[in-house]
Amino acid sequence: MPVELLEQRPENSRPLRLVTSAGFAEMALPAETRAWAEANGFSGEAGRVLVVANAQGGIAEALFGLGNGQEGVLAAGTLARSLPEGDWHFAGEPDEATLTVLGLVLGGYVFTRYGKKPGKAIRLTLPKNADGDLVGRAAEAVFLARDLINTPTNDMGPQALEDAARKLAQAHKASVSVIVGEALLEQGFPMIHAVGRASSEAPRLIDIGWGRKDAPKVTLVGKGVCFDTGGLDIKPSSGMLLMKKDMGGAANVLGLASMLMSAGVDVRLRVLIPAVENAISANAFRPGDVLQSRKGLTVEIGNTDAEGRLILADALALADEEAPDLLIDMATLTGAARVALGPDLPPFYTGDDALADEIARASAGVEDPLWRMPLWKPYEAKLSSKIADINNVTTDGFAGSITAALFLQRFVEKARSWVHFDIFGWNPSDRPHGPTGGEAQAIRALERVISGRFGK
Ligand code: BES
Ligand code: MN
Ligand code: ZN
Repeated sequence: MPVELLEQRPENSRPLRLVTSAGFAEMALPAETRAWAEANGFSGEAGRVLVVANAQGGIAEALFGLGNGQEGVLAAGTLARSLPEGDWHFAGEPDEATLTVLGLVLGGYVFTRYGKKPGKAIRLTLPKNADGDLVGRAAEAVFLARDLINTPTNDMGPQALEDAARKLAQAHKASVSVIVGEALLEQGFPMIHAVGRASSEAPRLIDIGWGRKDAPKVTLVGKGVCFDTGGLDIKPSSGMLLMKKDMGGAANVLGLASMLMSAGVDVRLRVLIPAVENAISANAFRPGDVLQSRKGLTVEIGNTDAEGRLILADALALADEEAPDLLIDMATLTGAARVALGPDLPPFYTGDDALADEIARASAGVEDPLWRMPLWKPYEAKLSSKIADINNVTTDGFAGSITAALFLQRFVEKARSWVHFDIFGWNPSDRPHGPTGGEAQAIRALERVISGRFGK
């Protein structure tokens, strides 16, 4: 972690002040600091950093502008890149200490696997009112998700994704079983096999189990399409460029599992990841094919680029068989979700109003933006097929994210509650708390929801 958290404040640590534009005028500040701020035209503008020198030409302190508070305190991530290196502590206790520290830590992330230099060495003394354990768990989870998404497919194919899942499971003494290749057909996962069979790396279903056997069952399912060419209904080059991130759902559920396991939440956790590459070869599945599914529904393929819902359907059907108390799936499922809400605000779908309220509250509470969209039943008719039980796409293309969610819903019956997240998994541009590239979405909010429902 480039931003290191300390319990004890070192002697030469320098104070860092959070300044709102409304509070700046009345704020108690050393006279020199106020003069320096005024000389620089600083009055607490959002995202602005002002380093104040001392009489010896060293660093006296720094100010960080929160503006009117609208951008949220994760914006403190900017500090990880703008503060001079060394030891820092907050002057006083910040209002939202845990989130502020988390923002700072998240902002220090750099993807270093291919030679980029790590971020600045900043040591921050944890303010007394911050939950350092929570920050540590969340940062580890977010960094895991980002690293997995950022890793290109030549180093993050189905086998490498399995290895990553095994590594996480091992660290938490969780069990892992994986069904690979032809065994998917023998054990009843025909759609995972069909989508993944054209790749040189065999498709697989990764199944992690952790926690007390008779604790409440929480099952996470993540779309693990390691690369999405679109299959035979091939994507244009612009649409394919970022498709290493199509395992963003898998990366995020692994991140969420990491948080829950390190917190020791008392649940029976199961993580299911169908891991495939949607490739093109002579044996690729085709438009017009009709696939059998685990659930027994026949699925006509209107477009091989709607592959995520196929592999998820088989994984969800398996998850649903044991009637979990809570079933969560996360997937980079549709471009339509981006059209509707943009990259930063993933839609979620659930029929459980109480759960939706909990998610919305947690989302606001931890600055992990999410927005509920409807499982609008009348649109289900758009998925009808002339020869099979259901088609994997609609013909008119309207409401693409909703109809994808409705498709998934057909494969979930017994779960007490089910919620689906159509995530983007990517920052298209640099943000205070994370650079351009892979991004965790929804998992910090979900950790709060699950800890709240089932936690210690
Ligand atoms: N992985 C894509 C969705 C996607 C694209 C997510 C770009 C984020 C950014 C998914 O497999 C896909 O191709 N969906 C199609 C569905 C269509 C064929 C019904 C889409 O959204 O265009
Ligand atoms: Mn696709
Ligand atoms: Zn996809």
